Amino acid sequence: MRRPLVAGNWKMNGSLESVRSLLDGIKAGVGAVTNAEVAVCPTAIFIPEAQQRLSGTEIAWGGQDLSTETSGAYTGEVAASMLNDFACKYVIVGHSERRTYHNESDDLVAKKFATARAAGLAPILCVGETLEERESGVTNEVVARQLNAVIELEGVAALADGVIAYEPVWAIGTGKTATPEQAQEVHAFIRSLVAEKSAEVAEGVRILYGGSMKPGNAKELIGKADIDGGLIGGASLAAEDFLGICTAAN
Ligand code: PGA
Repeated sequence: MRRPLVAGNWKMNGSLESVRSLLDGIKAGVGAVTNAEVAVCPTAIFIPEAQQRLSGTEIAWGGQDLSTETSGAYTGEVAASMLNDFACKYVIVGHSERRTYHNESDDLVAKKFATARAAGLAPILCVGETLEERESGVTNEVVARQLNAVIELEGVAALADGVIAYEPVWAIGTGKTATPEQAQEVHAFIRSLVAEKSAEVAEGVRILYGGSMKPGNAKELIGKADIDGGLIGGASLAAEDFLGICTAAN
């Protein structure tokens, strides 16, 4: 049985004050969530706040990106060891915003996955097609290419140390959620791809859905056989909404 995971991707949002109150709000309300695992990924500079406020709770925290380098002259980057210094459990890799605005290639994302894994962090690997790709019928091809980059570099067993997030780019921050059927179809495809290499890894790996998930649609989405939780952007910025999704996943 795969334990559902609901992870908040706060992106570049919040202030010190709002981050503190969001962390406290989630902490106060998470008690009712016993089955699902809950995690938050704040902007890097706020990770120490997450550690301070969430240590000793069941809530995990993580980064939104990491460098493939260990240290040195890489202005603006964050190393895996630094995420570990603040007890991160997770790190998102290959989010579509990184792929689009920072030109991250499948190969680079695979290297980030490997770097995270080597440091003992659990990478949350994002995959997903753009609207144009969906409309031209290449969704499966795109998702397979993104996933295979990791499998080719690290081997299929590596996926057991991480999480996959299917995030159709056209659904991110747009209010346009994939229907549960549309999402399930791609989730099942992703699992079948993994199963071609290892039935055991396919059975165990969690595949989250991301893209305009809200308390109102979470239950139906997470209720699907191959949807094991959510990676939540907008709705993770209000404790009540985020907790509503966690409860739905419970
Ligand atoms: P959204 O973002 O929930 O705001 O659509 C999801 C994500 O980008 O991870």
